[in-house]
Amino acid sequence: MNRLGKTLGWVFAALAVVLAAGITFTIGWRPFLGPRTRALTARKFESTPTRLARGEYLVRNVTDCMGCHAEHDWTARDAPVLSKTLGAGQDMNILKGFPGKVYAPNITPDAETGAGSWSDDQLARAIREGVSHDGRALFPFMPYPDFRAMSDEDLASIIVYLRSLPPVRKQQPTTTLIFPVKYLIRNVPQRLDAPVPEPDVSTPEKRGKYLVTIAGCADCHTPQDAHGQPLPAMDFAGGFILDGPWGRVASTNITPDPSGISYYDQGMFTQVIRTGFVRARKLNQIMPWHTYRGMTDEDIVAMFAYIRTFKPLRHHVDNTEPPTFCKVCRQTHGGGNQNVGATAVVAGSIPETSKGPSMLPHKTMWQLKRSSGVVASHFQDNRPTASCGRRVDRGLNRRGVVGVAIAFGRISPLEKRRRGR
Ligand code: HEC
Ligand code: HEC
Repeated sequence: MNRLGKTLGWVFAALAVVLAAGITFTIGWRPFLGPRTRALTARKFESTPTRLARGEYLVRNVTDCMGCHAEHDWTARDAPVLSKTLGAGQDMNILKGFPGKVYAPNITPDAETGAGSWSDDQLARAIREGVSHDGRALFPFMPYPDFRAMSDEDLASIIVYLRSLPPVRKQQPTTTLIFPVKYLIRNVPQRLDAPVPEPDVSTPEKRGKYLVTIAGCADCHTPQDAHGQPLPAMDFAGGFILDGPWGRVASTNITPDPSGISYYDQGMFTQVIRTGFVRARKLNQIMPWHTYRGMTDEDIVAMFAYIRTFKPLRHHVDNTEPPTFCKVCRQTHGGGNQNVGATAVVAGSIPETSKGPSMLPHKTMWQLKRSSGVVASHFQDNRPTASCGRRVDRGLNRRGVVGVAIAFGRISPLEKRRRGR
């Protein structure tokens, strides 16, 4: 080999090493390898009356599967399920801000268009581990990272109940995400190889914690940064925007702070969950009180006991006030201008700690690793992107990020304004 050839050889080898290191430290190899997945087993969940009842209770009142896997009249007070669509899926693009087209599939026992031909373990793996029946990484708007905490027995109960639904013939399209999100989400699924025992429900707080986790309260009530990561020290402090046929609302602060729900007592919480009214104030139907209202008194009281243990956080969010920019959560929400930085979060700060996939809220969890999040978050046009162009996250350089975002032409107007400054 001549000298030039040798030099070129070394240059390519060096480039390959740099590229490999770059991939390892930024998005990881999953986008190329596919999701972490385990082999399917032949396990079958026997249908018993206890399981059927427990499964129905969880699906209909706690885990809100039908909030997504059924069609609703979202303009009505309690967002009723449209007849004959229970379990038949929903076009989720009613919610603004997805990086692509997202559909909740038909999970009724219909053999051709639903889950009729999927095995129990295919369902089990999809629900808690995020791998679809055909081996795809599920878009984490499906809250499998929350459901990971679900006990084996509760999982079996839910599957037994799903099998009892009347089959509905309805083909939902397959979710299609834009590049690069469709590859990046392969980082999200996590295998579950050990049994998940029954939860510890020895105190109301512990019982409440399990319920609040699998009900996904944090997915809406914890605000997120530009990466779709929960803001640090803002657990349950509200400010997450939900824009759709129900209107544009922000989740409210449910911590025991005066700007949150410190004035609630157990009776009042029960009444809010059962009626969707906070005294005379009507709650928007995107808050799934109409799902949770069927919970037992014991479960509602337990949830409240756990909610009472939250750290009080000052963050004023009030959907009855005009939307203004909030420096704390960097969203535009009712009463936002009343938050003047005197809270737990420094305006514009980006969390240095990543809580990891299992803790991420389902609404924007397509941004999984923080680096991938930088890219992905730019595809949400309704979200201010505080960090863009200012921070370099785990190896993804600023020009690369901005470049990708511009290439897709979807930088938020807010961000454009900020960068113009
Ligand atoms: C917030 C909305 C939402 C909730 C709540 C939700 N899902 Fe999903 N689910 C989805 C979406 C969206 C998908 C499809 C994601 C994709 O295609 O990448 C999905 C996918 C699935 C799949 C995978 C189907 C397949 O192709 O293998 C199953 C099974 C499933 N969900 C069951 C459930 C069950 C059971 C519950 C309640 C315990 C539930 N889901 C709650 C939105 C949701
Ligand atoms: C799909 C998103 C979503 C989920 C999931 C959700 N919430 Fe909410 N919640 C909201 C929104 C949005 C509001 C504000 C509604 C309004 O102001 O009209 C709200 C309001 C509330 C309020 C009223 C607070 C006040 O302002 O007085 C309480 C209490 C509450 N939620 C508790 C919960 C609990 C407990 C859970 C879990 C069991 C939960 N939420 C899950 C979106 C959600």
